[in-house]
Amino acid sequence: MYRTHTCGELNIKHVNTSVTLSGWVQKNRALGGMIFIDLRDRYGITQLSFHQTHQEKAFNIAKEASRESVVKITGKVIERESKNKNLPTGDIEVLVDELAVLSKAKIPPFTILEDTDGGEEDRMKYRYLDLRRPNVQEKIILRSKMAIEIRNFLNNAHFLEIETPFLIKSTPEGARDFVVPSRMNPTEFYALPQSPQTFKQLLMVSGFDRYFQIVRCFRDEDLRADRQPEFTQLDCEMAFVTQEDVLQTFEALTKHMFETFLNKTLEDFPRMPYKEAIENYGSDKPDLRFDMIFKDLSSDFKGQGFQVFDKAEIILGIAVDQAANYSRKQIDGLTDFVKKPQIGAKGMVYVKYLEDGSIKSSIDKFFTQTQLQKILEIHKVKKGQALFILAGQVASTRKALGELRLHIGKNIIGVDSEIFKPLWVTDFPLLEYNEEHNKWHAMHHPFTSPKQEDLHLLDSEPHLARANAYDLVVNGVELGGGSIRIHQSDLQEKVFEAIGFTKQEAKKQFGFLMDAFTYGAPPHGGIAFGFDRWVSLFSHSDSIREVIAFPKNNMGKDVMINAPSKIDQEQLNELALEVKA
Ligand code: AMO
Repeated sequence: MYRTHTCGELNIKHVNTSVTLSGWVQKNRALGGMIFIDLRDRYGITQLSFHQTHQEKAFNIAKEASRESVVKITGKVIERESKNKNLPTGDIEVLVDELAVLSKAKIPPFTILEDTDGGEEDRMKYRYLDLRRPNVQEKIILRSKMAIEIRNFLNNAHFLEIETPFLIKSTPEGARDFVVPSRMNPTEFYALPQSPQTFKQLLMVSGFDRYFQIVRCFRDEDLRADRQPEFTQLDCEMAFVTQEDVLQTFEALTKHMFETFLNKTLEDFPRMPYKEAIENYGSDKPDLRFDMIFKDLSSDFKGQGFQVFDKAEIILGIAVDQAANYSRKQIDGLTDFVKKPQIGAKGMVYVKYLEDGSIKSSIDKFFTQTQLQKILEIHKVKKGQALFILAGQVASTRKALGELRLHIGKNIIGVDSEIFKPLWVTDFPLLEYNEEHNKWHAMHHPFTSPKQEDLHLLDSEPHLARANAYDLVVNGVELGGGSIRIHQSDLQEKVFEAIGFTKQEAKKQFGFLMDAFTYGAPPHGGIAFGFDRWVSLFSHSDSIREVIAFPKNNMGKDVMINAPSKIDQEQLNELALEVKA
């Protein structure tokens, strides 16, 4: 027998019990005729004591037991002389009679402690060791518990978990596909799914009514802290539902998860149309943990001879609390921030409203104090605040001010990590202009239905049509997104037309779905959550990598197994592939 107890469960009640424990040597300290070992497993740490005079054999083996070796001990639980209040097992230790080293460990490349000395690269290369660290392990355990809780919740709500294939045909959903060559069909390729979108819709046509899947998705796109090339979705679809039904169902699930794992009761989620999110926050995923709603200052500032303002399409500002006290250096820092290429503003104007009622600004030359005072009053700027103003083209100015707002909120004002501000962003546009390809494409995906009241726009001005599409946003993170789908083949054809698909192209790509719709398709809709993002939010992680057992690095590589890697010529031949060096 390897163990009678885990390393996390012994306490004062077990004193005098004989126990067998197995685990990893976290620490080994010799103090004269005594040795103390901290034995670790996923449940906790138990102190072992070895007395030379008690059991010399075990004592001598313990002397040699290196850090991270796997050992098994048998001994008796005794009360500790100096108790450790920080450990659940801190009142006791095990006086060891027998010790066996089951697997001797080399010195690990970094310390297996919460606060490790290991750099990112080593921790990725030896991810199995990184995963031994309790704080890293905790996130993977949370992930497992969350998945099980979701399954139970959805099972109770009559959802069925149904698997869909991984080797499929390419579906255009914005990102590039990962492809897999087919040996049996030379020159032909499968694509790995970016999501199970079309399959879950077909399951509705089949009558399964409520589907979910916790499923891996694959997207060959640029990586960021919240993006991995393979990631996990909680993917869901429902038949005979309106948008309201979907929002209610998944708002209930989200609230249940917050309640269960964070002990937080959330109010009903506010709803915000896309247009409002963009106009007020410069983003379709507004972070509502702080205010700083955009103020449109265009009509106040134009026409006074200040070229930057006069030439701008739009002049936008945010009022920032306590910013009237910001130093020259701080303001310069903000100006440098907005001028970074990825933010893209040309500069920033400030107007400080000091506590004594006076005004200091970077545009004193062009505007009198009285003019500025009037503008501050119209826009309800308070004493002690400062207005930070950007001007330029509409879209880029909104985007840049949105970034500035986030930067100030997160890095200067600061946020309480226990606050969660969810909201539904609704009424997304049906189409979006793709600068790279110079054409309109579906903003969510081509199966998303237009709003009934905007159907008439499809022929004349499709880009103005809004969709029955929604995102769940929490603290500025897009946690999930979905839509009510098109379930009539003629409307689907029309939308394909609007995004420049010819009838033939549409038939070639999605003929199977349009055909399916001709055999009786129920109205349906759904949503998919980024499961990694969800776990990451709940565990206060900086990146979704922390909640994935074996993630890829920023270059999409797994440095532990060295993937991707070259394959040999024989394999290439078999797949009828030729590789250019
Ligand atoms: P969408 O493309 O919005 O919708 O994806 C749904 C959610 O998946 C998460 N996500 C990602 N997470 C980690 N890494 C990535 N590379 C990544 N890409 C997306 C996000 C996002 O909100 N089929 C539709 C859903 C539907 O309409 O039902 C879809 O996939 O949290």
